[in-house]
Amino acid sequence: MAEILEALALRRARRAYDLRPVEADVEEALWEAVSVAPSHGNSQPTRVVVARSAARRGALVHALNEGNQQWAVAAPLLAAILAVPAHDFPQTNSDGTVRDMWAFNAGIATGNLLAQATAMGLLAHPMAGFDEPAVRVALDIPGDVRVLVVAAIGYPGRADSLPDDLRKKEDIPQERVPRTALVADDSWHESQAIGWREWRKRLAEGH
Ligand SMILES: Cc1cc2nc3c(=O)[nH]c(=O)nc-3n(C[C@H](O)[C@H](O)[C@H](O)COP(=O)(O)O)c2cc1C
Repeated sequence: MAEILEALALRRARRAYDLRPVEADVEEALWEAVSVAPSHGNSQPTRVVVARSAARRGALVHALNEGNQQWAVAAPLLAAILAVPAHDFPQTNSDGTVRDMWAFNAGIATGNLLAQATAMGLLAHPMAGFDEPAVRVALDIPGDVRVLVVAAIGYPGRADSLPDDLRKKEDIPQERVPRTALVADDSWHESQAIGWREWRKRLAEGH
């Protein structure tokens, strides 16, 4: 239990990678962590495509936004985390509204991936900053499959390998909403309606 929290708390979205490749057995443990994730009705909608060849890697990097391109290009392993909505078992509410579960299921699997990577001393940084149609073309992904994140994975490298603006971000303290905004007892609490940007302002002003 303590070991899990340690791995979760150690994880940071850093950007400096070492050149050292990720060994095949280490990579396999990442996919096993994805595989064992729970999913609604055991639907397992999560899929992964790893960009192996130089051509596919290049196309995937090109599909990232410019800010991500400048550091993610150095990651030894680039993988698109996908979900297949057609595999879902959506839940229907009494008012007829529908709850899709595929993104939630794939999110849990991605959380497993990040935790396992951290526990093995890897840096795994998910990115939503990409163009989905371009990722589809880069990796031959069909139109009915959703690209959720691209993960940049590798061993941590030296922060001074990064441009100045990114280097400064490597060790900024982890910022989170106060616990009272996260968890409430018995009923919704007004502090839960406050978003991170507003919390950040209030905390900076000493509220
Ligand atoms: C779904 C998702 C998408 C993200 N997309 C990006 C991204 O495109 N580029 C980036 O630099 N970081 C991205 N991040 C990293 C977040 O910025 C980071 O997790 C957040 O600032 C908190 O920092 P921490 O992970 O170090 O605690 C993403 C994280 C998640 C979970």
